[in-house]
Amino acid sequence: MLIRNCRIVGSQGVREGDILVEGEKIVEVGRGLKGEGEVVDAGGRFVMPGVVDCHVHVRDWDEAEKEDFVSASSAAVAGGVTTFLEMPNTKPAVDSLDMLKKRVKLGVEKSLVDFGIHLGYSPEIAEMQRIDVPSVKVYLDSLTGDDVESVLEDAGRLPYPLTVHCEDPRIIRRNIEFARDSDPEDFLVHADIREKLAETSAVKIAAGLAKKTCKNVHLCHLTVPSSLRYLNNYTTCEVTPHHLLLPDVDLQSQKGFANTNPPLPPSLNVHGLWQPVTAARVDVIASDHAPHGIEEKGGDVFSAPSGIPNLDVMLPLMLDVVNRGGLALTDIVRMMCENPSRIFNVPGKGFIQPGADADLVILDMERETEVDPKQFYSKAKYSPFTGRKIQGAVDTVILRGRVAFSEGDFNVRPGFGRYLYCSIPK
Ligand code: DOR
Ligand code: ZN
Ligand code: ZN
Repeated sequence: MLIRNCRIVGSQGVREGDILVEGEKIVEVGRGLKGEGEVVDAGGRFVMPGVVDCHVHVRDWDEAEKEDFVSASSAAVAGGVTTFLEMPNTKPAVDSLDMLKKRVKLGVEKSLVDFGIHLGYSPEIAEMQRIDVPSVKVYLDSLTGDDVESVLEDAGRLPYPLTVHCEDPRIIRRNIEFARDSDPEDFLVHADIREKLAETSAVKIAAGLAKKTCKNVHLCHLTVPSSLRYLNNYTTCEVTPHHLLLPDVDLQSQKGFANTNPPLPPSLNVHGLWQPVTAARVDVIASDHAPHGIEEKGGDVFSAPSGIPNLDVMLPLMLDVVNRGGLALTDIVRMMCENPSRIFNVPGKGFIQPGADADLVILDMERETEVDPKQFYSKAKYSPFTGRKIQGAVDTVILRGRVAFSEGDFNVRPGFGRYLYCSIPK
């Protein structure tokens, strides 16, 4: 396959040229290339590596009615996400070798795109043979009880990098007590319960552990600008499109549909969060795609579950930011393709270079759309971005050398996706 007439985007810049693909791999990038077989004319449009989304909740198994591998990976393809790393807080959880094997089997049967799986923390992992996973995930807000420090220290002794959900459960529990008599229709109560201090306290402990043990720790979905002051040489960090684009006023208007953990930040913090993003102190933008049932999201502040489905729209939302001058496409590629691939040792993904998998997205930076969750391929047909007008869209998606999605049509089937062994350097 030859993809001609591209403006190829990498973190270091944009260059005009062609991409020559043999089988599933890119073999050459340059000008005036000749090749046999299918020719795709990019028509001078931007071509970027497929997005590597390192934070996705697929739900399959007991919560398959919320999302399964087919629906999640279809949303991924349509949204320009050609690789995702699944989070292990499934029901039941993926926190043992046995469960990981079962999950991999399910994923390779059903996924359209390549995927990896973060292993959920459990004390038994210490006894387990060492395997190739992107990281061990620790949920401070739900898994640990009050023993935040000791759980993190145990996890820190495991021979894996850690990925941490940073909210201190002790602060959340105390606030739930205080909030018990609050108005259930006041959705800002959710933000009061999960106050800023819950995040900064957890970030401080997790980043401290990284430094003390010289272990890589990835801090998920940061929302509080002052969390960034705890970063060190062993930490990497992530933000989500919703925390960057939706202040808590949207929590009041969108109610349960905007409930997420950590909660949407006050407007001032949203502005504060952009500063480290534009200054390249934030490593990753990830979706934290967290689908729930539309009925339960319509509940009150105490019952609506937290989580926003983003796979269908994350890349278009960020392309709109580019069109409005907030970021450059090179930043998007750095934070959504190259860095997540590098941080989690995702083989063959995130870069347009010889030897890499031919996972490519041809962009249409002119096309204007309006977010309409009824059109989502995700089963979660709601979004706090509903009605938002955005400029910038996914035109064509190529998965391992095959045109997988073009003009709304899929050309890959469930089972095309492969499991990725993300091997951690010893
Ligand atoms: O809002 C959230 N929902 N945040 C998380 O960290 C977990 C996720 C979920 O699994 O629903
Ligand atoms: Zn989380
Ligand atoms: Zn999550």
